[in-house]
Amino acid sequence: MNKVSIIGAGMTGSTTAHWLAEREFTDVALIDVVEGMPQGKGLDMLEAMPIIGKDVSIVGSNDYAETKNSDVVIITAGIARKPGMSRDDLLKTNAEIVGNAAVEALKHSPDAIFIILTNPLDTMAYLTMKKTGLPRERVIGQAGVLDSARMRAFVALETGVSVENIDCYVLGGHGDEMVPLTRHSNVAGVPLREYLPADKLHAIVERTRKGGMEVINLLKTGSAFYAPAAACAQMAEAILKDKHLIVPASAYMNGEYGLKDMYFGAPVQLGRSGMERIVEYSLDADEKTMLEKSAAAVSETHDALKKLVNL
Ligand code: APR
Repeated sequence: MNKVSIIGAGMTGSTTAHWLAEREFTDVALIDVVEGMPQGKGLDMLEAMPIIGKDVSIVGSNDYAETKNSDVVIITAGIARKPGMSRDDLLKTNAEIVGNAAVEALKHSPDAIFIILTNPLDTMAYLTMKKTGLPRERVIGQAGVLDSARMRAFVALETGVSVENIDCYVLGGHGDEMVPLTRHSNVAGVPLREYLPADKLHAIVERTRKGGMEVINLLKTGSAFYAPAAACAQMAEAILKDKHLIVPASAYMNGEYGLKDMYFGAPVQLGRSGMERIVEYSLDADEKTMLEKSAAAVSETHDALKKLVNL
């Protein structure tokens, strides 16, 4: 059986475990600093398996030894964004948490592929790659699956068409400057720009960009977790089943889209070796301008990290 370890058994981590267990392709280890919590959640979830008929092991622990020989490590440990708090405010605290988690997890699973969820996402993925010394194929950030799923959900609400018929692509950093690609997104093959009037499409793009904050403002005590967790589970599945699935995700850019030495959201192909390739779209002038703006915002956070942490 495959093994996925999730570091951080909070809302997103435990929900990721839940989505994974339901799919029955991997055992799961849940790790957290809070004593008893990952053990309790792990046991509770394990006790649900007879009901849903899934033969997988779910174990919670405070000890990284439990993550031994994982195929995939998902890092969700950190503090969540509060109302009014920007993703970048989280930088310092989460850098320490994520850096240590990645180094500890790698000691027990030298071959694992890392999926990073903790915000600010692109920068935490960059930090993980630098701290662990892993090649870029083995460190991928989750953001685009979530952002494009939000856009797909909003298009489905607007059109009344099945979410399965709706493909949306979002490029760029996981922030308010992300680039929803309306030219490449479509409803059953019909470009969104033809399917929806400009004002409706504009509203969907804006809602997608602010999707994270919309949920935070409603929840008040935490940030989104069902959809981010579903996104992590899909990425782990694509890797472990060697699907060669193309999804938007955050990857280390080495010249792609004209960007270097930074993590940035782009369509990437996922398989058993991790990030197999970055797909490059041809962009028009407007899209290029938006992309540059988004890249500048991500670079700023990367630079802030480099001032705080020795990489
Ligand atoms: N090691 C392991 N777990 C840790 C550590 C650590 N050093 N520090 C904190 N944690 C745990 C917390 O105890 C908590 O259970 O990380 C968990 C985070 O869970 P939540 O607070 O419920 O946050 P969640 O909503 O899951 O979001 C996690 O993902 O989307 C991002 O911005 C979000 O950075 C946040 C992260």
